[in-house]
Amino acid sequence: MIEAADRKPIPVDDRAAFEAEKQAQSIALGTDQKLFEQATELVAAADAYDYTYLWKWMGVPIIQFPADVMATQEVIFATRPDVIIECGVARGGSVLFMASILELIGKGIVVGVDIDIRPHNRATIEANAMARRIRLIEGSSIAPATVGRVRCEIKPGASVMVVLDSDHSYEHVLAELRAYAPLVTRGQYLVVADTLLGRLRHEQAPTRRAKVLHKGNEPLAAVDAYLRETERFEADPAINGKLIFASSPGGYLRCTA
Ligand SMILES: C[S@@+](CC[C@H](N)C(=O)[O-])C[C@H]1O[C@@H](n2cnc3c(N)ncnc32)[C@H](O)[C@@H]1O
Repeated sequence: MIEAADRKPIPVDDRAAFEAEKQAQSIALGTDQKLFEQATELVAAADAYDYTYLWKWMGVPIIQFPADVMATQEVIFATRPDVIIECGVARGGSVLFMASILELIGKGIVVGVDIDIRPHNRATIEANAMARRIRLIEGSSIAPATVGRVRCEIKPGASVMVVLDSDHSYEHVLAELRAYAPLVTRGQYLVVADTLLGRLRHEQAPTRRAKVLHKGNEPLAAVDAYLRETERFEADPAINGKLIFASSPGGYLRCTA
């Protein structure tokens, strides 16, 4: 017979409290300007080594910071979209990553749009087991014909998430926001990549890119402009707050209406 003193106490279920505390810490982190600036110095220095190009998903290059990949995973798992539209496919890692999360959830497709889907990159994507959840559309993301083809992939009543990661200039991102943000459904996310560019000092701007973009001509400026045109989106303070070694702080927008 087990003596009362030997009985193990039943552990308190702390899951909700843990979650609430981490949420609060993420939001608090987002207000720590000094830490953000320290992290940003590191990000700018790491760019000399093409840091965002050093990662792979399922063996395929994914041009992201690991923190952004995790944040996107959290968002997809929490909101379970039927359709994820991504502008900017590159070598395919990000569409494969998001399709993998949808595969684990058990539903959904990724519509990948790129102005230049090279045959070898298409072949890599199409040879992957996740290909059945991926639709590739080649064309400029802001061309009306491309937007029309994307719309055709959305079944009536589907929940839709959008990721914008193509040309990061202000005019292009603002045009993408106007074309694709209206497709995002309530409760889903609109993710605008490379918003960090709007928080870099002039001399910190990455130079090893197709376009060198400085504050004002970048995605965060486009997000700010778009948020003045609509009340349907709000920045998620918990997701954005913890993105200190990442490329998209401020880029995770929740659709509220
Ligand atoms: C930063 S890369 C995308 C990275 C990718 N999402 C990943 O995580 O691996 C940007 C891509 O945008 C594409 N792009 C540039 N301008 C575009 C446009 N006007 N419309 C669609 N795609 C465009 C480029 O061809 C390039 O493949």
